Amino acid sequence: ATNQTFTMIKPDAVEAGHTGAIIKLIEEAGFRIVAMKKTQLTTERAGQFYAVHSERPFYNGLRTYMSSGAIIPMILEKENAVADFRKLIGATNPAQAEEGTIRKLFAKSLEANAIHGSDSDENAAIEGSFFFAGTEQY
Ligand code: CMP
Repeated sequence: ATNQTFTMIKPDAVEAGHTGAIIKLIEEAGFRIVAMKKTQLTTERAGQFYAVHSERPFYNGLRTYMSSGAIIPMILEKENAVADFRKLIGATNPAQAEEGTIRKLFAKSLEANAIHGSDSDENAAIEGSFFFAGTEQY
């Protein structure tokens, strides 16, 4: 069925000027952009977004990194969106990401891995509403 996923282009990739190239790959893969903006998280809001990782050793670094610069959050729509998007971006660790995936092409490290993709339909809805009101989704 057609459904939605949530993504954000992370500070390392925005700063490096990869926004346009990444959006091109997303559209060429058949995703429709439902919502998109450029914004920046505070450390506190980054911590809220990644609250599920609050017990992990990398949590503090992740909050600092995710609030270090501008991000581009988006809601995307496609048949089988969550799984197909995770294929398109590749493994969390770019060293393990397949050739041609967005992380293989653009990620700098395990932490600065260029892009986020929701891991379930439920989290896609939660993460999308973290950034966008219903009136910003078309
Ligand atoms: P993402 O899958 O978007 O969500 C969790 C993020 O935490 C992940 O991308 C990376 O940016 C970061 N991350 C995951 N594992 C580690 C790790 N072992 N060390 C540092 N950062 C990590």
